[in-house]
Amino acid sequence: EKVVLAYSGGLDTSIIIPWLKEHYDLDVIACCVDVGQDDDMEAVKVKAIESGASKVYVEDKKEEFVRDYAFRALRAGAVYENKYLLGTSVARPLISKALVDVAHKEGAAYICHGCTGKGNDQVRFETGVFSLDPTLKIIAPWRIWDISSREDAIDYAQKKGIKISVTKEKIYSRDQNLWHISHEGGDIENLENEHKEDVVYMMITPPEKAPDKPTYVDITFEQGWPVKVDGEALEPVELLRKLNKVAGENGVGVIDIVENRLVGMKSRGIYETPGGTLLMEALKELETLILDKDTFEFKKLVSQKYASIAYSGQWFTPLREGLDAFVDETSKNVTGTIKLKLYKGSIKIAGRFTDFALYDEEISSFGASELYSHKDAEGFIKLFSLPNRIRSYKKHK
Ligand code: ARG
Ligand code: SIN
Repeated sequence: EKVVLAYSGGLDTSIIIPWLKEHYDLDVIACCVDVGQDDDMEAVKVKAIESGASKVYVEDKKEEFVRDYAFRALRAGAVYENKYLLGTSVARPLISKALVDVAHKEGAAYICHGCTGKGNDQVRFETGVFSLDPTLKIIAPWRIWDISSREDAIDYAQKKGIKISVTKEKIYSRDQNLWHISHEGGDIENLENEHKEDVVYMMITPPEKAPDKPTYVDITFEQGWPVKVDGEALEPVELLRKLNKVAGENGVGVIDIVENRLVGMKSRGIYETPGGTLLMEALKELETLILDKDTFEFKKLVSQKYASIAYSGQWFTPLREGLDAFVDETSKNVTGTIKLKLYKGSIKIAGRFTDFALYDEEISSFGASELYSHKDAEGFIKLFSLPNRIRSYKKHK
């Protein structure tokens, strides 16, 4: 029998391979899903086989990740607890899907992951898997074995003859893809500590060290999809890479958050989402020009719900698809360009260009116009304030 292991190449997932063979007598198929993490995939392959996997898959899902997961969450305006752009959350369902596909190809009955029993990711992976194939069985070693520290893990690796890259001490628990990188644990766990920019950041230049002059960048959207940067048409992956670079260089896109995990506890994280932050800022600005008041208000509800279900791993659900349908419909006119000015960690809106704005300079400016008459306002206010007038009338009678 076979098990498909969600494999990263790191120590935590490498020791799972001999452990599975020892305790379950299963062939281990390692599966590394490439969502744009900065790892050498050839080295990951070699490491999996060296650690005892009988086969290894590296699944390139970068394009699908950016287009169908990250950009979907962006268009929905999904922001968890006012800050988090959900970089880890939206990658998990896609990884689950890739694992399930490999399991089907290999005829494997089990899926194994290296998440701890305290976090969100276990919930997302397993919910994702069960949504796609409820017959698959999950093995979650970190909830079973008594390896509980990095030292234990190293001991076990040595016992099993797994090479450990002794390079640098692992300071933070990190998760990276094209949309973001998260940092948790270590000195961040103490809320009184300012996070150390030089040590933590991997995609972003600390604002104080960013250039002394501003950089302008134009982002163009078509029906809410990002399609151009500075006038150049780009595919999703290239577009995001380009924005990551320009935002990163200018110190833009970090949050420091204490969030509510699904499993009940609060946890602190530092998340870098350079390109995503520009995209979210620009798209929200564009929407303020184009969406009418009621749609705009309703979209906020949709955004909040979208964020909450994406965070909770409820991706493969009719609700998420329904919310996407709403977003598709209301994004039909969300086409135009926003110019951003980036400077040492800040973003300023520096220009708005669209043919679809409901804003009309002629109507909004103070002069007379054909579509709006000052006189109409008088009757409008009378009716609009009818309840107020009735209340006041009764009170004074
Ligand atoms: N707290 C964030 C989230 O739940 C980031 C999780 C990072 N995961 C990890 N395995 N390091 O989405
Ligand atoms: C983990 O516990 O495996 C990482 C953190 C999380 O899933 O929230």
